[in-house]
Amino acid sequence: MNLKNNTILITGGTSGFGLEFTKQLLDLGNTVIVTGRNQDKLDQTKKQFPKVNIFQSDVSDPKAIKELFQKVVTQFPNLNMLINNAGEMRKINLHDTSIDLENITKEIDINLSGPIRMIQQFLPHLKKQKNGAIMNVTSGLALIPFPISPIYGATKSGLRSYTKSLRVQLKNTNIKVFELVAPAAKTPLNDKFANDVDPKSLMEADKLVTIAIKGLENDKLEIYPGIANVLKIMSRLAPAFFLKQLSKPVDKMLNS
Ligand SMILES: NC(=O)c1ccc[n+]([C@@H]2O[C@H](COP(=O)([O-])OP(=O)(O)OC[C@H]3O[C@@H](n4cnc5c(N)ncnc54)[C@H](OP(=O)(O)O)[C@@H]3O)[C@@H](O)[C@H]2O)c1
Repeated sequence: MNLKNNTILITGGTSGFGLEFTKQLLDLGNTVIVTGRNQDKLDQTKKQFPKVNIFQSDVSDPKAIKELFQKVVTQFPNLNMLINNAGEMRKINLHDTSIDLENITKEIDINLSGPIRMIQQFLPHLKKQKNGAIMNVTSGLALIPFPISPIYGATKSGLRSYTKSLRVQLKNTNIKVFELVAPAAKTPLNDKFANDVDPKSLMEADKLVTIAIKGLENDKLEIYPGIANVLKIMSRLAPAFFLKQLSKPVDKMLNS
């Protein structure tokens, strides 16, 4: 797809990949709209990139999605691309009885229900555009579980499955459906995992986003930057070995 002169909505555009997408997509001459929950982070983003358009909105709240839709399509009727990027990843010990039933599914509400609801809400509008596009940000952990983050992996596998079905159902429309299978990268999301992930294995967010943008420009529907390519192959060739490697931090968690 041509990545110039689009109107692009990015959920979670105030940090990490979302912030980097904002920078690079603005540089290419697109209109960029970003969301996030924290107004201070939105204001900082606006200060850093005065051309960006900001909306406070929580992707885990269906009512907020409806309100966001009304505001965005009224102000930006040419909106033609949605990047479902907002996400959260927590370390969760499933033995911890203090986690209540609402809290345990927080990642599902944000990482899985969020994109599904955003697409359901924005799809009729995107279908009217000449060049529509949706990109869902999944993860290498959609391919192999990371057992200290059991809910996160489940959401990303689920989002990957949904994305494939969506692509098939939209085959007769003008909407291209992309999946960014992101590897571990240097963003605030990984701060909580400093003792569990080798910092040398983390990809730079700007590099990752540049590869993602090249992938979009070349109509690569599944984009695997950096080590995500290796994970894709190894998850098929040696899934048990890789699960064992990614299971190593569990012992520390169970003993803490
Ligand atoms: N970093 C990695 O290693 C990695 C690897 C693979 C995939 N990913 C995926 O890449 C995406 C971006 O991650 P990141 O590393 O860039 O994370 P990040 O730096 O923590 O940024 C997350 C962004 O999402 C927003 N957000 C979180 N919950 C939200 C909600 N309920 N509603 C709206 N916005 C929300 C945050 O803003 P507020 O807190 O203000 O809402 C922030 O702007 C996520 O889907 C993540 O799962 C990351």
